[in-house]
Amino acid sequence: IPVAPFVLTVFGATGDLARRKLLPALFHRDFAGQLPPEATIIGVARGAMTREEFVSLARAAIVEHVPASETAGPELDRFLTRLNYVTADAEGDDGWADLAAAISPCADRIQVYYLATAPHLFGPICERLGNFGLARNDSRVVIEKPIGKDLASAIRLNAAIGKVFPEERVYRIDHYLGKETVQNLMALRFANALFEPLWNAAHIDHVQITVAESLGVEERAGYYDTAGAMRDMVQNHLLQLLCLVAMEPPPSLDADAVRDEKLKVLRALKPIDERNAASLTVRGQYRAGASAGGAVSGYLDELGSNLSQTETFVALKAEVANWRWAGVPFYLRIGKRLATRVSEIVVGFRPVPHSAFSEQVGQIRPNRLVIRLQPDEGVKLWLMIKDPGPGGIRLSHVPLDMSFAEAFKVRNPDAYERLILDVVRGNQTLFMRRDEVEAAWRWVDPILEAWRNLNEQPRPYTAGTWGPSASIALIERDGRTWQEDGA
Ligand code: BG6
Repeated sequence: IPVAPFVLTVFGATGDLARRKLLPALFHRDFAGQLPPEATIIGVARGAMTREEFVSLARAAIVEHVPASETAGPELDRFLTRLNYVTADAEGDDGWADLAAAISPCADRIQVYYLATAPHLFGPICERLGNFGLARNDSRVVIEKPIGKDLASAIRLNAAIGKVFPEERVYRIDHYLGKETVQNLMALRFANALFEPLWNAAHIDHVQITVAESLGVEERAGYYDTAGAMRDMVQNHLLQLLCLVAMEPPPSLDADAVRDEKLKVLRALKPIDERNAASLTVRGQYRAGASAGGAVSGYLDELGSNLSQTETFVALKAEVANWRWAGVPFYLRIGKRLATRVSEIVVGFRPVPHSAFSEQVGQIRPNRLVIRLQPDEGVKLWLMIKDPGPGGIRLSHVPLDMSFAEAFKVRNPDAYERLILDVVRGNQTLFMRRDEVEAAWRWVDPILEAWRNLNEQPRPYTAGTWGPSASIALIERDGRTWQEDGA
């Protein structure tokens, strides 16, 4: 789908997100020939900086994050000519007239404002976009999580944005929704007749969703300590993945058709609160250990404080209380400094009702569908088959294995490449609607409150392991195990 001419204004243009994700993503799309000649990017930040200084910052960021094969040619210089820079104060009026002047030559283009800033600036920036006449009736605003730190603050934040931008022009990014394999989950479920009849409590025993990172919090400790794993990743990424697994087939992929179905899932989540949090949730915090063969510090050392009780790991057992899923546990697990970096959804089917095979030929293991989000994106369907050979039947558990890299031999675009262009195209399907974000907080808040009230301390785990042993107990109590290797 072609991309119309646009002017993209990035607030927080010198920050981490802009340097690591946004500028590289825009360059990739330009390199692929997808940006129209009239695509302009205006960086905005508080620091005084010339256009040349911003261009050299952007060049360094792109060279660092994009393969050399793409940055060696003339494409990078051409991309950099699209950039402009304006110094403006998000919380004051300085610089806003300059910004208006920089945008005005692009009056005939689609206007996008990307707020890659701390969330407390979302309200003040939107207000000034309104005051300075920059929010036209077709301009769009993009915001990043965390959208609030609880339901009340999320409502306030959404209201502040809503005063200037109506919902159909607010794009709340959850970059997990832009990942190739996450969208593939929809293709797998809704473009194949095979799975849907089995996609329910009658045939599915349980679902596991793991998002494991090997990195620690490093220089993000300041932000992270105010959030913790629950707010940083469960409230958004993990619940969004759960929604895509659990939702009813939408009538179409229209934004509201998909988001209506996800909202129903969030509303059907069984509450976890003080009564059951101790048995359904585990929170952990990493201590010094080893990662990628080297010694690494613990969370408290990285933070430089001994006092923090912020969790860097969460495991929990959720249930979607509706007709399709009643009684099917959804085990979610997410953590920093775990044994490896892997994000995976495992759908465990029920065992066969009867075995015609004697035990000597091998144990029949239940089928499993594994959707690997990263790294090595792909889908595996584990089946029982007969070992080849003439010596009678022996059963083996073997995957039908589809690695996307091998099957398609193309580079997987980063989530941001797709999401930024979806904003320009005006497609909100992969963005979170206001009521979804609020419904997610409505489920998460009582868990956070229970942890506070029960004085639930994070359990220590050694960096480079799979988290606290209580997380293993959480699933093993139910006679199941975490699948760590897609096996
Ligand atoms: C972000 C979180 O939203 O997602 C980070 O704030 C986390 O803490 C990151 O590291 C993980 O994203 P990805 O795409 O690397 O899995």
